[in-house]
Amino acid sequence: MKTEKFDASTQSLQTAGELLRNQELVAFPTETVYGLGADATSESAVSKIYQAKGRPSDNPLIVHVHDAEQIMHYVREIPPLAQQLIEHFMPGPFTIILKSNGTVAKSVTAGLDTVAIRIPGNPIARKLIKEATLPLAAPSANLSGKPSPTTAEHVYQDLAGRIAGIIDGGPTGVGLESTVVDGTGEIPVILRPGGVTKQAIEQVVGKVEMSRSLEDNKPKAPGMKYNHYEPDAPLILVDGDREFFQQYIHQYQQKGQKVGVIASNPFINQLQGDIHYDVGSHEVLEEVAANLYYALRFFNDTDVDIILAEAYPLDGIGEAIMNRLTKAATDYYQQK
Ligand code: TXA
Ligand code: MG
Repeated sequence: MKTEKFDASTQSLQTAGELLRNQELVAFPTETVYGLGADATSESAVSKIYQAKGRPSDNPLIVHVHDAEQIMHYVREIPPLAQQLIEHFMPGPFTIILKSNGTVAKSVTAGLDTVAIRIPGNPIARKLIKEATLPLAAPSANLSGKPSPTTAEHVYQDLAGRIAGIIDGGPTGVGLESTVVDGTGEIPVILRPGGVTKQAIEQVVGKVEMSRSLEDNKPKAPGMKYNHYEPDAPLILVDGDREFFQQYIHQYQQKGQKVGVIASNPFINQLQGDIHYDVGSHEVLEEVAANLYYALRFFNDTDVDIILAEAYPLDGIGEAIMNRLTKAATDYYQQK
């Protein structure tokens, strides 16, 4: 299959919308990561997503709509708490889980009685959804297990020849996926930390829970149980000062290994690995979030044998950064 490249012009979005109505797959930019869109009401269109990505079919998809009015077409009810969350955080890097009314294809929800809904903050994404006149099921537009794509080029690397089109809207911005929140209960539960922080949600609704389903070994967001974001070389998370970090760099170098380093500045300038990727200022963790997947993919084009990555504090967007890094990592060295 030839994968057509589109710009974000109205005409391109109309053509892409038509492909989607014809049950084809089109990748599009959002403010978090690029999504791989398909008609969420069509079993056959949605099955193409699982096929193109090589994604396990028990991992449900997020349904993307262009405004809040659309949500009620796909859910049984919008409880007052959910309504508040919708008003404050949508459009934006935020996904809400509600009781499904069964309108979307069964394979979208992977058999659950709930459905995940998101209104992207990126206007190109909303315009595409509107042009398509469809709700779009869209996971991140990467091969399953690879880092999520933050540029159209990343999508092309993974999915060229497997999908009908890619809309290029430039780099994504937030750089990590949306925060997934279960809005069906009395207290909102964060199933996946992301672009909207726990603190921001607490300011709106008070109490918020962070799902510890990973530790419980009983994932509530089924996506959390799979290996994710894996770079080609093993990645080790390192939490410690310069000396602690450098000692590991030496250890691997002495074994004849080429060491890649992912860290923020100014810390990274004090280290002596073989290839460094500076993900931005330690004072501005949003920069680190925006560059993280880019860094993981960058090292796939190098010949490093091992990647050592800096650990970050868990506040704000740090929680989402550490969630992704922990999943990417094969080991975690912590200074006592
Ligand atoms: O930022 C994002 O959310 C991106 C862009 C493209 O919108 N999308 C994305 O989709 O990250 P994906 O498929 O990579 O991740 C969806 C997550 C998975 O962890 C999945 O298990 C969870 O949402 N999820 C989907 N439906 C669910 C449901 N009904 N209940 C619980 N978790 C659900
Ligand atoms: Mg994904």
